[in-house]
Amino acid sequence: MSSIASGEQKPAGRTQRLLDPILAWLEGRSGVVPAWNAFFARKVPVGVGWLYTLGFATMFAFILQAATGLFLAVYYSPSPDHAYQSIQFTMFEVPFGAVVRGIHHWTASGMVVLAVLHMVTVFMLGAYKYPREMTWMVGVGLLLVTLGFAFTGYLLPWDEKAYWATVVGTSIPGTLPFLGDLMLRVMRGGTELGALTLTRFYAFHIMLLPASLAGLLGVHLYLVVYHGISVPPWLWERIQSVQRVLTNRQADEQPPSQKEEYKQKYERFKERGKTFWPYIIAEDMIVAALVLIVVFTLVMAAGIPTEAPADPTNTAYVPRPEWYFMFLFQMLKYFPGELEWVGAAIIPAIGLALLLLLPLYDRSPWRSPRRRPIIMAGGLLAAIVVTFLTWAAYQ
Ligand code: HEM
Repeated sequence: MSSIASGEQKPAGRTQRLLDPILAWLEGRSGVVPAWNAFFARKVPVGVGWLYTLGFATMFAFILQAATGLFLAVYYSPSPDHAYQSIQFTMFEVPFGAVVRGIHHWTASGMVVLAVLHMVTVFMLGAYKYPREMTWMVGVGLLLVTLGFAFTGYLLPWDEKAYWATVVGTSIPGTLPFLGDLMLRVMRGGTELGALTLTRFYAFHIMLLPASLAGLLGVHLYLVVYHGISVPPWLWERIQSVQRVLTNRQADEQPPSQKEEYKQKYERFKERGKTFWPYIIAEDMIVAALVLIVVFTLVMAAGIPTEAPADPTNTAYVPRPEWYFMFLFQMLKYFPGELEWVGAAIIPAIGLALLLLLPLYDRSPWRSPRRRPIIMAGGLLAAIVVTFLTWAAYQ
């Protein structure tokens, strides 16, 4: 980093002498240096390590999806008559088309896995607690948008799997009392799945969802920078008990507010930490490179499952959604007939509300897992239920 940006007064080297006027010009025209200092030269508290790389890895997966999706959109035709053929053309006629589509296909699953792993880590570290409640809630929004990408993208190849999974997927909201019929029509663009459904899903997939994800991610990252990365609970709580003894306050002395106490303590951890650039980002980059290697290996080893073009008359086809929606699909089987909407809407809505509002009802100040037995047991139970339902769906 140049002396201008870092504010240090060292003898200038050759590269620095060249860089400084350019940076000074850029700074004068754009204020880039304070922005660099806020985002890249910011201090990250001591103790932050590999467990904290998953948010960046999820973001990397999104960038990969945006780049490969742009390429695929150049050749894709969103109409029932041409969608399947346009994808065949991309795969077999366009140079690197199969690889780019393979990356988009496998990173879609990868992004869901990474977002969930990132959320589980944040949950385990208790990083959703004061002052990061809003960061968590925006994160839940990001997870929903990620699932929206997966749901809308699944239809686009317009093969048997895509068609019949979407018939089932869109019929689920249709089971709701009062609003069901309207929701089904809005999603399908009519009562049946057809050309309007495809253009509608495509518009969501390439316009509304990317814009929503970019917006939410901007807010998420702003909050991450504004509050700073959380200190790992094992360090944060060890100091807490020592600090109580050391402060030795007089009985009549006013204790600092939660906010002040938190700030003073956090600053002390930050002073001993490293800067995001080049230290923390190096770990993030290594994990991002690993993600790329895993995706590339899957593309080469497993390819992309191909099916026949969608045939709306083939009612013998057994629909199956993508693996990460299987637990929801399985749950519907326990609520047959009139009760289907309970499994389709009420239980998922309760689950979502519990996830979204977690920082508001888990008010204990403790962050380490062993000091949060009830919340940890709740999280474990949710994981067991989802794993069991997914397993049962494949039996
Ligand atoms: C598209 C999905 C997401 C992306 C790209 C993303 C990105 C990031 C990044 C880059 C960070 C900073 C580094 C880190 O702590 O890992 C972060 C932190 C954070 N994220 Fe996410 N995130 C996503 C989804 C989520 C979800 C689903 C949740 C929870 C419901 C969540 C909650 C948080 C919280 C609370 C932090 C602060 C962690 C701390 O300070 O230790 N994020 N996220």
